[in-house]
Amino acid sequence: MSGARILLIVGGGIAAYKACELIRLIRKGGGSVRCVRTAGGAQFVTAMTLAALSEQEVHSRLWDLKNEAEMGHIQLSREADLVVVCPATADLLAKMAAGIADDLATTLLLATDKPVLAAPAMNVRMWQHPATQRNVARLRADGVTVLEPDEGEMACGEFGPGRLPGPERIVEAIGQCLAGTAGRLSGKRIVVTAGPTHEPIDPVRVLANRSSGKQGFAIASALADLGAEVTLVAGPVALATPQGVRRVDVETAAQMKAVVDAALPADAAILVAAVADWSVAAAPAKLKKANGPPSLAWSPNPDILAELAASDRRPRLVVGFAAETENVVEEAQAKRLRKGADWIVANDVSGDVMGGESNEVHLVTADGVEHWDGAPKADVARRLAERIADALGTGDDG
Ligand code: CTP
Repeated sequence: MSGARILLIVGGGIAAYKACELIRLIRKGGGSVRCVRTAGGAQFVTAMTLAALSEQEVHSRLWDLKNEAEMGHIQLSREADLVVVCPATADLLAKMAAGIADDLATTLLLATDKPVLAAPAMNVRMWQHPATQRNVARLRADGVTVLEPDEGEMACGEFGPGRLPGPERIVEAIGQCLAGTAGRLSGKRIVVTAGPTHEPIDPVRVLANRSSGKQGFAIASALADLGAEVTLVAGPVALATPQGVRRVDVETAAQMKAVVDAALPADAAILVAAVADWSVAAAPAKLKKANGPPSLAWSPNPDILAELAASDRRPRLVVGFAAETENVVEEAQAKRLRKGADWIVANDVSGDVMGGESNEVHLVTADGVEHWDGAPKADVARRLAERIADALGTGDDG
């Protein structure tokens, strides 16, 4: 972000006030911001506010001769490193998709030769309308990075996707656009498993484990941020679905395997779930204490990772996880070979990793072992997503 010049187009929506926080964050990160308001944007945020925060003149009118003489609109768009549209209304997205240039903002968007990032905000029905979805698909095909909106309660009282993505997410996406890594995984289908499985013992009891699903959800989120089409197969966890991710909830290992198989073909599979190795023949009625300790009839569960890696529908890149308490790297190396995975991400779970917020892992590949210092799970996820993009981009899965 340091030294980056952002041209910020503020569209006309109630979320326009959040553009002010975005300016603050960009400047805090060392970037500079020049603002352009649409006529709608001018209804929600004053030029004075934007000028005070950006410490630059705010532009609104196409036919401002003084500005045309001193700085043409083409120059304005080209002096930036990145054009950010925030909030991007349904109307603005439609004009961008159609190539309409009827005001300063849309003219700049048509004239620019710089990457464009759009952060949508609108009513849920407007977002879900086929016309908007068509425009978003068109823009993405044209190379515009269009973020998925957040889900939640809207200013109009409805609930669903359509809220402006949080300023931190927009700043993160700006970083990716500037680094040229945004959309690196667009067009790639990736399956991620996460969380524990629950194997029923009777109608009220299950065999479970301590996996929280946090690392797997963070990976699904990071992959979606790079533009991948992610199917997240989640065991029972209490976590919100990451933006832009298709989530399928399951309980047992057998259900998880069926959903993973149904999500194929895929370019990559990242199997983070702590799958139970065994299930028991579940009693049809509740086991009663008076009958004494039950004897459970155990049978092995399918090994989703090993079976996927050996199948003729194997994704190009298969990544497994290994939670170990002893000989972490040696166990992971043996597991990689035994299960036929390309990579194993190994971690020592003897501490409070399970359910915790950070992780310290070893990436075990055919080329060797890399130690990644302890970091928040979201950072580990981003780093892994970049590596996955490297591997899928070059055809090097080693
Ligand atoms: N895995 C799977 N299906 C299973 C068990 C595990 O897909 N039935 C996957 C996990 O998602 C993870 C990897 O295999 O990516 C490692 O699982 P782990 O439980 O550590 O391996 P095990 O085969 O159980 O080995 P061990 O019990 O010896 O540690």
